[in-house]
Amino acid sequence: MSDLFSLKNKIALVTGASRGLGRDMALCLAEAGATVLCAGRAAKDLETTVRAITRKKGKAAVVLLDVTNEQSVQKQVRAIIRKYRRIDVLVNNAGVIHRENIVDTATPDYRKVIETDLIGPFALAREVGRHMLAREYGRIVNISSIMAVLGRGSVAGYVSAKHGMTGLTKNLAAEFGPHVTANAIAPGYIRTELNVPLQKDKAFCAMLEQRTAASRWGNPEDLRGALLLLASDAGRYITGHTLVVDGGMTTILA
Ligand SMILES: NC(=O)c1ccc[n+]([C@@H]2O[C@H](COP(=O)([O-])OP(=O)(O)OC[C@H]3O[C@@H](n4cnc5c(N)ncnc54)[C@H](OP(=O)(O)O)[C@@H]3O)[C@@H](O)[C@H]2O)c1
Repeated sequence: MSDLFSLKNKIALVTGASRGLGRDMALCLAEAGATVLCAGRAAKDLETTVRAITRKKGKAAVVLLDVTNEQSVQKQVRAIIRKYRRIDVLVNNAGVIHRENIVDTATPDYRKVIETDLIGPFALAREVGRHMLAREYGRIVNISSIMAVLGRGSVAGYVSAKHGMTGLTKNLAAEFGPHVTANAIAPGYIRTELNVPLQKDKAFCAMLEQRTAASRWGNPEDLRGALLLLASDAGRYITGHTLVVDGGMTTILA
């Protein structure tokens, strides 16, 4: 059974692997046997992720790349293909959030979130997807959010981008089949640097515990099962799907 979820001999590219969910996903994919290319802007932090993987006898390397810079995406994908011959798994994880009410939000701040959280994943899926299509194998996993199914005050750019990601994921599935799958994971609230302000907000934490069937914040490790399902052969007949992993938050009203 473990073969079904194995990533032995696979090459996986994970964006935003310098910290938070991306770092844990990189560790998880490496533990499942993949060589993990840890992509992002912060060389030192990416090296920390790579060291954490190699300490556990896994294989990993740093790829410096800004997902909002199309030339950097194209250049690095070409370099990876030259060196490793293929990318089997793409995890579009890099993301940012901007917290401000719509009436106060300047267009460049809104645009930055769309550029990072929606256009970046599009460009990566396009560049990597070409090679996956030619090789007739690939797994694309987009990291979305419960903000792909809900609205919430003060994060309009994020909500817009993550709703857009649902559509992007469906279209990637429609265009990339039959051998390349594209799915998304929509996490609930998982403790990372992205949501430090909310972790410190007592009223928010009380609401979260009451509104979540699991009665707690998520941890990065809580996403590992969903990730391995969608990144491995276990998920070969699942495509175009957004899998909510939120401890039940969007399932119950209170
Ligand atoms: N934590 C949660 O509760 C939660 C819930 C739902 C969805 N998510 C999603 O999960 C993903 C990861 O979130 P997180 O909580 O781990 O956030 P995080 O701790 O803030 O990490 C974000 C990662 O994205 C990278 N990144 C940002 N902009 C980038 C760019 N232009 N190019 C390359 N890398 C870039 C960051 O790298 P740098 O070091 O270069 O900034 C960092 O590695 C995001 O897509 C987020 O929307 C998170």
